[in-house]
Amino acid sequence: MSDAARTYLSGIQPSGLLHLGNYFGAIERHVALQERPGRHYYFIADYHALTTVHDAELLRRNVFETAVAYLALGLDPERAVLFRQSDVPEVTEIAWLLACVTGMGLLERAHSYKDKVARGIKPSVGLFTYPVLMAADILAYDSELVPVGRDQVQHVEMTQDMATRFNETFGSRVFVRPEMLMPETAAARKVPGLDGQKMSKSYGNDLWIFESGKKLRKRVNRIVTDSRPPEEPKDPDELFLFDLLALFLPPDELEGLRDAVRRGGPGAPGYGDLKARLAEAIEERFAPARARREELLAHPERVEEVLSAGGAEARRKATEVRDRAYRACGLR
Ligand code: TYM
Repeated sequence: MSDAARTYLSGIQPSGLLHLGNYFGAIERHVALQERPGRHYYFIADYHALTTVHDAELLRRNVFETAVAYLALGLDPERAVLFRQSDVPEVTEIAWLLACVTGMGLLERAHSYKDKVARGIKPSVGLFTYPVLMAADILAYDSELVPVGRDQVQHVEMTQDMATRFNETFGSRVFVRPEMLMPETAAARKVPGLDGQKMSKSYGNDLWIFESGKKLRKRVNRIVTDSRPPEEPKDPDELFLFDLLALFLPPDELEGLRDAVRRGGPGAPGYGDLKARLAEAIEERFAPARARREELLAHPERVEEVLSAGGAEARRKATEVRDRAYRACGLR
């Protein structure tokens, strides 16, 4: 990719504490991208979280924890704008404009909506129109690149469709058509949870980024394996535990373990050994961020300051885009 200044944007729902899927699928990339020239917008999607969280105190707590996590994991407010989605109410106005040019059929095809309904969630209108608000989030800042995990691909494609539809309907280039950026490795694009399905708060199979000590070991021990003994040779590609290990271990150590498991025999590592190594590696990897988190928890005013300043800056940009869209469709 060229070094030309680009606009990057992504968001995370504060529907719970952030997990390893959020980190490897999104945050790690967000933090790395801030080194590139351009504008960087990262936000906490609290409007979106309202589709599932209906407890005011919990939502406030999750928003705060998400902001703390972003900062502890290395997002630099001098280089990236970190803000709360709801500090930019213009996105809901843009969402309405998009809703008026979006067919029901497009939303009816949304995988994440269909998944949630299949799992027994009684859908609200908000849940159904979720992709429209997400498109507004992206289009409100003239975003060009959207770094997300694989589960968000369809939502970004819908955003592309909505931008094109609006521009064609009103005969002007109001919205910039965004492209997505996905993590480089397959394991990071779709981090498995404890049961091997996609790691997700709503599946209850997640590992909190800042978990540590005994709680972390207990949680890692819940990773689903089978009852084959260590000596029995196994194909490491069939063990999703290795997808998790691949996110943490240096390549030569990983290759050594894969070989040992493939060969089996006396002294080969068992599932318990692999899980113990994983827990240790998680603990070590996030130790510096865990310490920064503790510091930030002791100074909530600093976190609030970052969010307020970020919200004001994001709002200036979104207002400019909203005005452009209003003019194009005859509202001004
Ligand atoms: P959310 O909150 O579910 O997830 C936040 C980010 O984490 C990634 N992710 C994963 N990546 C790999 N493996 C996993 N198991 C995994 N679980 C989550 C997601 O791909 C995402 O990048 N709709 C969005 C929030 C949103 C948004 C936006 C994102 C609202 N508006 C505008 C980008 C742009 C969501 O629910 O992500």
